[in-house]
Amino acid sequence: MKYVLTGATGGLGSQVLKYLLRLVPASDIAVSLYNPQGASAEIKDAGAFRGADKLLIVSYPSIAHELRAKNHINAIDAAKRCGVKHVYYTSLAFGTGSVAAVMKAHLDTENYLKESGLKYTILREGIYSESYPLYLGFFDPSEGNDEILIPHSDGGIAWVSREDLGEGTAKIMVDGGYENGTFLLSGSRCLTLQKVGEQVATILGRHIRLKVVSEDEYVKRNVGRPGPRGEEQFLHAWATTYQGLARGELDVVDPLLQRVVGRELKPIEETLKEMLGVAGDAAVMEQYAK
Ligand SMILES: NC(=O)c1ccc[n+]([C@@H]2O[C@H](COP(=O)([O-])OP(=O)(O)OC[C@H]3O[C@@H](n4cnc5c(N)ncnc54)[C@H](OP(=O)(O)O)[C@@H]3O)[C@@H](O)[C@H]2O)c1
Repeated sequence: MKYVLTGATGGLGSQVLKYLLRLVPASDIAVSLYNPQGASAEIKDAGAFRGADKLLIVSYPSIAHELRAKNHINAIDAAKRCGVKHVYYTSLAFGTGSVAAVMKAHLDTENYLKESGLKYTILREGIYSESYPLYLGFFDPSEGNDEILIPHSDGGIAWVSREDLGEGTAKIMVDGGYENGTFLLSGSRCLTLQKVGEQVATILGRHIRLKVVSEDEYVKRNVGRPGPRGEEQFLHAWATTYQGLARGELDVVDPLLQRVVGRELKPIEETLKEMLGVAGDAAVMEQYAK
């Protein structure tokens, strides 16, 4: 059984690789790396996924709908051309019918994969605990601003660590089954942003307040920040995340991940303590807010 992983240099993919290496011989695993210059003619001819029984397609790191969906579709088409037997795709937790912009490319990809004729498993990966600043108004402890603004609504989120997701994803790939199905990998309890803010305040020993404001006020607060998260278009798109929260789209616990890893999942409190022990979380925004 040969495994090929995309995104293996990233936060999730590196965890999948780590756990896969514990489960199967290293000689059964290949990683498909991304080269911004494009693949050489020889690599294109060889077909990056050729010989793979099981391929993990890690979603493209951006919320840009069309660009993201196009990259996923290219990968699915390549899998088909190369005769891959089973494709695993890392979707997101918001779910079918989501109003969140970040979910749109995932839903398009899910549909494309379902209609591809390939054997597939869609893993709707839960919201990373590590990505909490994105949801908490781009909170950065080094800025010293203790009033967090979010638009529309707060809501529960079944936060989950990337390591738990990586382990669960690797085990699901090795265990087999899960064919032609869609599965939610969530944390084992939901916490609102209000509660996460309180945890952050306790850890930092600061008086941090969370305020639900209009979308315009939220955009005004953040416009001009470095990178895409400072752009109006991105901020309006990201604001739809909170409309999803209002609908309870992330307020869903599924016991599957805990069952697959066979132990308690890492609570978000532990991740917060680890992350807030180091200066600033700006790296998370650089990584994801694009
Ligand atoms: N569930 C959540 O809460 C959540 C949060 C944020 C993001 N996500 C999604 O989940 C994915 C995995 O998360 P992560 O933490 O592993 O992200 P990450 O650390 O940013 O890793 C992204 C991976 O994608 C690779 N990549 C970038 N552009 C590519 C391209 N054009 N073709 C092929 N590979 C490409 C990167 O390769 P290089 O190292 O070579 O750049 C890297 O390995 C993200 O990409 C994003 O779609 C989920």
